[in-house]
Amino acid sequence: MRSIELFGMRREYSSNPVQISDLNPDPFLQFGKWFDEASKAESSEVNAAALATVGADMMPSARMVLVKNFSDKGYVFFTNYSSKKGRQLSENNKASLLFFWPESMRQVRIEGFAEKLSYWESDRYFVERPENSRASAILSKQSSVLKDKKSFDNEVETLAKSSLSDKRPDFWGGYILRPVLYEFWQGNKSRSHDRFQYLGNQEGWTIEQLYP
Ligand SMILES: Cc1cc2nc3c(=O)[nH]c(=O)nc-3n(C[C@H](O)[C@H](O)[C@H](O)COP(=O)(O)O)c2cc1C
Repeated sequence: MRSIELFGMRREYSSNPVQISDLNPDPFLQFGKWFDEASKAESSEVNAAALATVGADMMPSARMVLVKNFSDKGYVFFTNYSSKKGRQLSENNKASLLFFWPESMRQVRIEGFAEKLSYWESDRYFVERPENSRASAILSKQSSVLKDKKSFDNEVETLAKSSLSDKRPDFWGGYILRPVLYEFWQGNKSRSHDRFQYLGNQEGWTIEQLYP
């Protein structure tokens, strides 16, 4: 057996307790507040989130994405629709995004239903991307086996110089994750963490505190 012991790795958090009365009844506004605070406190990409999906085989899969927009409608990210995540979302559009802001000792879990963005919304973002990113999006068969990385890089470089890289391919675009559940987690001293769950219903949102 090969094993690395990590029992001794333990970080003590400072205390920043959150009360239910501190929270905005609208989870989108609460998210916006924590996002603004994270933007000031965090040194890494605050809009990076782990996206978890489950396809027809029921095997969960998670990977990072960059959230490029959020509104009271949902959370938007862009990707290849034929990638593993794209295939899983076409089989089952239930998905979860997890933001982790280590300096603030906060995480936000969002669960909901993912839908493809409209063509024009995907087009609008695609043209804003740098040439190399556009060319890579066009040429990458994301999540398929790549035999020759050097040739791929060369093709991307060549395409990036041509106007052909201006057109968004049909297999690339955005998703919007429409939330039905949020959980705001604040790490505290002595593992006395605060957790608040928002559940969406016909009338709006209910908020409950959860055991840590
Ligand atoms: C910080 C970070 C941000 C990323 N952002 C994106 C993104 O916005 N879209 C994307 O398709 N892949 C993004 N990736 C790459 C994905 O994590 C993943 O490797 C890729 O999308 C293929 O995932 P899949 O095979 O599960 O579909 C990002 C990776 C990291 C580490």
